[in-house]
Amino acid sequence: MSETSHTIYTPPADLVATAHVSGFAAYEALCKEAEADYGAYWGRLARELISWKKPFTQTLDDSQAPFFKWFADGTLNVSYNCLDRNVERGLGNKTAIIFEADGGEVTKVSYSQLLAKVCQIANGLRSLGVKKGDRVVIYIAMSIDGVAAMQACARIGAIHSVVFGGFSAQSLRDRINDTGAVAVITADCQVRGGKQLPLKAIVDEALALGGCESIQNVLVVKRGGNAISMTEGRDKWMADVADAQPTTCEPEWVEAEHPLFLLYTSGSTGKPKGVQHSSGGYLLHAALTTKWTFDLKADDVFWCTADIGWVTGHSYITYGPLALGGTEIVFEGVPTYPDAGRFWKMIQDHKVSIFYTAPTAIRSLIKAAEANDAVHPKSYDLSSLRILGSVGEPINPAAWEWYHKHVGGGRCPIVDTFWQTETGGHMITPLPGATPLVPGSCTLPFPGITTAIVDETGNDVPNGQGGILVVKKPWPSMIRTIWGDNERFVKSYYPAELKGYYLAGDGAIRDEKTGYFTITGRIDDVLNVSGHRMGTMEIESALVSHTELVAEAAVVGRPDDTTGEAICAFVVLKRPRPTGDEAKAIAKILRDHVGKEIGPIAKPKDIRFGDNLPKTRSGKIMRRLLRSIAKGEAITQDTSTLENPAILDQLSENN
Ligand code: WT7
Repeated sequence: MSETSHTIYTPPADLVATAHVSGFAAYEALCKEAEADYGAYWGRLARELISWKKPFTQTLDDSQAPFFKWFADGTLNVSYNCLDRNVERGLGNKTAIIFEADGGEVTKVSYSQLLAKVCQIANGLRSLGVKKGDRVVIYIAMSIDGVAAMQACARIGAIHSVVFGGFSAQSLRDRINDTGAVAVITADCQVRGGKQLPLKAIVDEALALGGCESIQNVLVVKRGGNAISMTEGRDKWMADVADAQPTTCEPEWVEAEHPLFLLYTSGSTGKPKGVQHSSGGYLLHAALTTKWTFDLKADDVFWCTADIGWVTGHSYITYGPLALGGTEIVFEGVPTYPDAGRFWKMIQDHKVSIFYTAPTAIRSLIKAAEANDAVHPKSYDLSSLRILGSVGEPINPAAWEWYHKHVGGGRCPIVDTFWQTETGGHMITPLPGATPLVPGSCTLPFPGITTAIVDETGNDVPNGQGGILVVKKPWPSMIRTIWGDNERFVKSYYPAELKGYYLAGDGAIRDEKTGYFTITGRIDDVLNVSGHRMGTMEIESALVSHTELVAEAAVVGRPDDTTGEAICAFVVLKRPRPTGDEAKAIAKILRDHVGKEIGPIAKPKDIRFGDNLPKTRSGKIMRRLLRSIAKGEAITQDTSTLENPAILDQLSENN
């Protein structure tokens, strides 16, 4: 994971010449400006990038640390900033979104059209009584409607919480319950890889599980032709609510700290946390990082392949590119349908100039391309590309080199962007016209971001020595709290021993000579599978919730060539340890059960059965031993505190 290469790629001269941040000296000057007067630096950018209804007079308020406030006496509207403002600047006819459906149909909307659509949805929501501060859960696939629904919430000051369409009814129910949402926006179905998958039916199932009594309305966007059931009084077609509404809608001007959205993510313990983001500070960083990290310009075609159900889709589809008046792609489908050349074909067809995706996608497309020339990037015209990006997990140098050579034609810088749901936007990343690149390293902090590596007591560690990744100073787009749980927020991110630094949860190391950062992976019980973040505890709870079969379960990650990490579960059944076909059959039942409890993305790749788990005499499961077994490594660790050493051999056997 911490592998880096030693090849250095300097920014191409033509890019340096025109980049928003042009040359390494310009990067350094911005860092110096931030260091010299932190408040003035962020204040300057917040005035330049955001249109405020009421200008702020104070930048950072740290009087209630770690509950920081930014631009607190300013008011704004995020949707105004992303839409109206662009129309007012003369971009009304410019294409905002190029939507490509799973089957290849293309729909384009201009800024004026998107604004009209957002206003109609916003008016529709208002007509149902949805108001500032109400939570709205959005459970929908990649679509113009999805982006518009998020923007419509922002327009009326409602707080959206998008739930990824791959999550199960149970997960959806838990999130609706935790937010206390008044409405759900969904679609009849989603289409992926040529198949229609239900969405509304899952919403029905989630609501039937109970605990969602706050929901008054379910709005359904029509995507397919599948039959759905509509509950009288609760469920309405979006078209019936929105289409007759006026195409203008006065925005709700909100305070900068007003929550824009909640997004659930996994922690090391317990249930997923509702990460709460602000309006002003969040929008600033989403816009600023889109501008500097991707060097977005007026004539670019930007494509972030993430789903709007993840933070990457929030910052780099719904908010950042639109705030800058950019043109972007929204893609409904999957990278391998109708074949593994889909991404390359779309880049060619839409003349994409900036392409942002996850290492796991690249690795799986490498495999496909190596097996079949027809889906190799060389079979497509990718000359429109000028910048490539990577996000979600470390990118190994081999995948980096392939991406650079075969997708970028050797001429496009790759920005390896390190950040998190909690950080709102990029934290450590190259700037394409400024930072020399080293494959496998996310290079240096974004200007104004104070990432550092410390030991367990918060003291800096020298370069070349690994440690804990922290952020020393608060930044505008940081998480404000965990929804409804201030205490958990402080405990998770501001542990007392770290001197008031933000704890990212990752390990990292800086290069001795260059100071470049390499992320070495999570230091807590959080897994990263295909760039999706999951807590081991969540998967364990899902397994043991199969009370008929499972007595005990422990989940660890192991390295995987394609998905980065793979989920490996060790399970003790309430019946004798199965082998052969019986073990396979039970493993399938348990996998499906996890799929039902959390969603298909959480299904363990390996399930091993044992009569017991390796435990200390005090009963603590020794996960580090399980990690070695999962990897197929010989056990070299000290096992003297283990109560039942014989169990290791049994778990190491493949059953
Ligand atoms: C975790 C955050 C960032 C948005 C998508 C994921 C890992 C993320 C990188 C990178 C190495 C990375 C970290 C981080 N991660 N980007 N460029 N290099 N690791 O957001 O679901 O909140 O996950 O993803 O472990 O903590 P998330």
